Amino acid sequence: PDTEAQAHFDALLAADERIEPRDWMPAKYRKTLVRQISQHAHSEIIGMQPEGAWISRAPSLKRKSILIAKVQDEAGHGLYLYSAAETLGTTREEMNEQLMSGKAKYSSIFNYPALTWADVGAIGWLVDGAAICNQVPLCRCSYGPYGRAMVRVCKEESFHQRQGWEILHALSNGTPEQKAMAQDAVNRYYGPALQMFGPPDADSPNSQQSMAWKIKRFSNDELRQRFVDMMVPQAEALGLTLPDPDLAWNEARGHYDYGDLDWDELKAVIAGNGPCNTQRMAHKIKAHEDGAWVREAAAAYARRHTSTDAT
Ligand code: 3HC
Repeated sequence: PDTEAQAHFDALLAADERIEPRDWMPAKYRKTLVRQISQHAHSEIIGMQPEGAWISRAPSLKRKSILIAKVQDEAGHGLYLYSAAETLGTTREEMNEQLMSGKAKYSSIFNYPALTWADVGAIGWLVDGAAICNQVPLCRCSYGPYGRAMVRVCKEESFHQRQGWEILHALSNGTPEQKAMAQDAVNRYYGPALQMFGPPDADSPNSQQSMAWKIKRFSNDELRQRFVDMMVPQAEALGLTLPDPDLAWNEARGHYDYGDLDWDELKAVIAGNGPCNTQRMAHKIKAHEDGAWVREAAAAYARRHTSTDAT
């Protein structure tokens, strides 16, 4: 390896400066960034499915228009992230291919069904809440294009979390049936939302190196703890409970203790055996195939545009 280039890279990291696409970087740094950013992009795109399925069934015109805007934001996040990953030399077509062939991962959370309208609220409150906890530190990621994309993504995620909170708040203060529906959604989504932060630190093969490279700023367990601490008072304000009998304030630690999570479940979902993995991938592949004519038309238009410009 080029020792001078390596020294320059190390110095940039040590000074908390950004690595940019033009800079030399270790091959493994590039590889782990493409892995994380593309998985993140895929999660945004697959994440459109559970909520998208509720657009036609939203309970009012106002809620429908808010949900459309939210799902559209997720598509936008996917696009910024694919663009950030492309600056590392992998094309969007390659990343898409890796997703559709099952080689690339996406977040476990999107393999759970959105069974009721309250699930749309729970996804906004819990899933986007977890996403914010995980992604705010990524705004300081050492790789410039990823960190910068995260700034806007996080602003939009805060809006998403509030809309989820507001849906649950309305249900929780509605009829007993509506309140029960809100509680049921929280009961089903809370555990899977905690698993979004990834395996426990001792079982997280990538964390140490990613933290040394300042891609990740906190470990999986640190961020999970931060999320639990943030959600307990919010659940109280909603009048809902979190489904964990071991949840208790620990004065000495200054944090909430929480019960063990079902790590076998996370492994199974990541391995493709969650409740909706097959459905999510089938839908993605069909949408890709159905959209072939749009890509062809756009490419033909771009070619004509370029040749007109040239003459
Ligand atoms: N679901 C699926 N795969 C997971 C996972 C999860 N919840 N948690 C961990 N994994 C995978 C990792 O990707 C890694 O697989 P790989 O080595 O084959 O790529 C493996 O399990 C081991 O985990 P590690 O902890 O070693 O992996 P990382 O250091 O990459 O940490 C992470 C995992 C915390 C998820 C990290 O990649 C990260 O912060 N990613 C960016 C955020 C992100 O992708 N969020 C997606 C969901 S949020 C969202 O999409 C917004 C929503 O509003 C739509």
